[in-house]
Amino acid sequence: MKGQLLLSFSCAAIIFLLHLAPITGQGPAGAPSASPSPTNVTAILEKAGQFTTFIRLLKSSQVGDQLTSQLSNKKSNQGFTIFAPTDNAFAGLKSGTLNMLSDQQKTQLVQFHIIPSAISLTQFQTISNPVRTQAGNSDNGQFPLNVTTSGNQVNVTTGVVNARVDNAISSNSKLAIYQVDQVLLPLAIFGTPAPAPAPETPKKVVPVPSRAPSGSESAPVDSSDAVANSFNARTLASCVVAATLGGVLLL
Ligand SMILES: *[C@@H]1O[C@H](CO)[C@@H](O)[C@H](O)[C@H]1NC(C)=O
Ligand SMILES: *[C@@H]1O[C@H](CO)[C@@H](O)[C@H](O)[C@H]1NC(C)=O
Ligand SMILES: *[C@@H]1O[C@H](CO)[C@@H](O)[C@H](O)[C@H]1NC(C)=O
Repeated sequence: MKGQLLLSFSCAAIIFLLHLAPITGQGPAGAPSASPSPTNVTAILEKAGQFTTFIRLLKSSQVGDQLTSQLSNKKSNQGFTIFAPTDNAFAGLKSGTLNMLSDQQKTQLVQFHIIPSAISLTQFQTISNPVRTQAGNSDNGQFPLNVTTSGNQVNVTTGVVNARVDNAISSNSKLAIYQVDQVLLPLAIFGTPAPAPAPETPKKVVPVPSRAPSGSESAPVDSSDAVANSFNARTLASCVVAATLGGVLLL
């Protein structure tokens, strides 16, 4: 009885908390527009968590500070859209990818994630490609960024990667920040997508010869297993015979 009471009470508590969650969830989203202090992009990303690498790049390239100062200058801009790759996205890069870049390329990489106008999720449906980013020239081979949509799903393609646009971290008339599941690698720096399929070809060749010897190796293993199995079967059979005999003798 007590247990049941406790159970239904905790159920009620959980339901109560679930109802609270959306309300508290709206808090941080509403807070930046309500706060009188200037919008600080790195601070918003820090609050959201899981963007440490992107924040580091925003800081080292000073693009983050430029954004913050441009956002505080209310007249001179149409706002910004930022595609923020998660730490997982950066972890998915081939090791050493960031270290290979010059400081200028790192800055271009960060700028490539920024569109100089605030775009809402619904506006992505009608946007015209290629989209111009802060990295500049959106000609093919340079810094083209295309938005593709399928239903409510928005993707951005660069000619090198096709990234999924996930939830909005910030969305108001001046600043839209979206989480993306991949680092947007621009064509101008990461060039032909050829290096990606290239390692696959040797990989495909390697398993063929390696499979053949392993296959022939497995044959003797199998036959010894068969010997062991037949041995086990024989000992089992003799046990059964012995047991039956024992049973008969007892009778
Ligand atoms: C923005 O916030 C970050 C971290 O919270 C801080 O280091 C930086 O100084 C701030 N920038 C400006 C311009 O206020
Ligand atoms: C982006 O879209 C434009 C216009 O549709 C197209 O010409 C171009 O090839 C596309 N680029 C990429 C990288 O998808
Ligand atoms: C969007 O990108 C993800 C990878 O991040 C991919 O799995 C998915 O197929 C893409 N969707 C479209 C419509 O291109």
